[in-house]
Amino acid sequence: MKTGEKVIILDFGGQYTQLIARRVRELNVYCEILPYNVSYDELRVSAPDALIFSGGSASVYAPEAPRCDPRFYSLQIPVLGICYGMQLMAMDLGGVVKEGRRQEYGKTTIFVQGDSELLADVEQEFSAWMSHGDQVVKVPPGFSVIAETENTAVAAMADAERKLFGLQFHPEVIHTPCGKLILSNFLERICSFQRTWTMENFVDSTTAEIREMLGPEERVVCGLSGGVDSAVAATLVHRAIGERLICIFVDHGLLRKGEKEAVLATFARELKMNIIAVDAREEFFARLRGVTDPEEKRKVIGNHFIRVFEREAEKLGKISYLVQGTLYPDVIESGTSTAAVIKSHHNVGGLPPDMRLGLIEPLRYLFKDEVREVGLELGLPEEIVWRHPFPGPGLGVRVLGEVTPEKVAVLQEADAIIIEEIKAAGLYRKIWQCFAVLPDIRSVGVKGDRRTYAHTIVLRAVTSQDGMTADWYPLPYEVLGRISSRLVNELPQVNRFVYDLTSKPPATIEWE
Ligand code: XMP
Repeated sequence: MKTGEKVIILDFGGQYTQLIARRVRELNVYCEILPYNVSYDELRVSAPDALIFSGGSASVYAPEAPRCDPRFYSLQIPVLGICYGMQLMAMDLGGVVKEGRRQEYGKTTIFVQGDSELLADVEQEFSAWMSHGDQVVKVPPGFSVIAETENTAVAAMADAERKLFGLQFHPEVIHTPCGKLILSNFLERICSFQRTWTMENFVDSTTAEIREMLGPEERVVCGLSGGVDSAVAATLVHRAIGERLICIFVDHGLLRKGEKEAVLATFARELKMNIIAVDAREEFFARLRGVTDPEEKRKVIGNHFIRVFEREAEKLGKISYLVQGTLYPDVIESGTSTAAVIKSHHNVGGLPPDMRLGLIEPLRYLFKDEVREVGLELGLPEEIVWRHPFPGPGLGVRVLGEVTPEKVAVLQEADAIIIEEIKAAGLYRKIWQCFAVLPDIRSVGVKGDRRTYAHTIVLRAVTSQDGMTADWYPLPYEVLGRISSRLVNELPQVNRFVYDLTSKPPATIEWE
């Protein structure tokens, strides 16, 4: 995919690589991440207009140190090396890198030297985030030093002629306040980019691409879940091919309160999309009877979801493609991940393995915040665009132990109260996910002089970038207090409320 100017970020294993990509996109330049060992031919095919080398934890001297093809320096396009990326550039081009233990870590003062385009308009002395062991002690021929610190003679280097640059510090993190200006200098002053990557352009070019790819006849199916990704993907495809897109919305009985009504109101009534709503509640509850093991539950829900989806899709006659709301972090993860299976994730609503359909993934190069912007651009209501992520198996993994319609009903009500209060407190968008969990316990209480033996509701609220790690969110006591009294007063089945104060790891976001 290429929409005008394009940066390729070579990933040398740095923890901030995705962050570099986000920053570049925020500056309205399209970019993609490729592994450091991408071949020269592959890189040429992807036709970058500039390269950024990410940081990485290795020492350039380590035998296994990640190295890229040295011909990348001669492509006649600007290259910016960050941290490890700069050290590698220095070593590859004839400079000297000194091996060392962790030299500088954390906030460091940088002193600008000379006047380089890369550091134009940046204060002569500024604060930046450092984290390195090795350091460049002599720049390669043709380069000059453009910044230093008290302990590092080369904090930044430049060869303006060949447009090769290196930064020992991290411009992509918020602890480098002028980092965005430096990246913007690279993209605008050095690469001379017009910076035209906007979500409006993305919508126009993507709908045109989809239309062209599908021709005038092909019909396409999409599983709509109510989540923002599938909603935006479906709306984009709908804009391209109108009613040749058929959405299937499976109500497995494990949705949040009012979810089905909200989805149908938006997509069927407002956007006039072709939607088949399947009421499969009884089938799912029947299959979940007596199932208590979390993995077993996930499998039952996931497998049956695929069966229902296939059954409905078969009734539609000839269909050639399936739309999926895959995002860029999933694409990057699946390319590199060696993570052990903690939970059998993301299997619900996934491609049925033996359905021979082509895939349309219009969001596969977007980050979550960009998807939200596209959603707003397409006119989706904020209610859907800002919705917290919801797992495919739905409330099935939040009702611990056996899932019954009665327990789900209690959880739906409790969840709705929580969300209402979080929204009323103006906190909904500050939180990645917040929801109710119904543990498989009952406890003794007293309501109106009467003994009760009733359910406990757990509140889970976390902040996160991508769901891979998460921190518990410190909700104000007043908000917790309001939620607590509403839950026990309004729900006769509930007599206790507790707050989950664990981060991920060691806990996970969902309880099952
Ligand atoms: P965990 O519980 O593993 O969840 O910390 C991380 C993120 O993934 C969501 N999640 C799922 N999403 N299908 C999905 O589409 C699933 O089976 C699934 N399980 C968990 C979870 O809500 C959180 O955002």
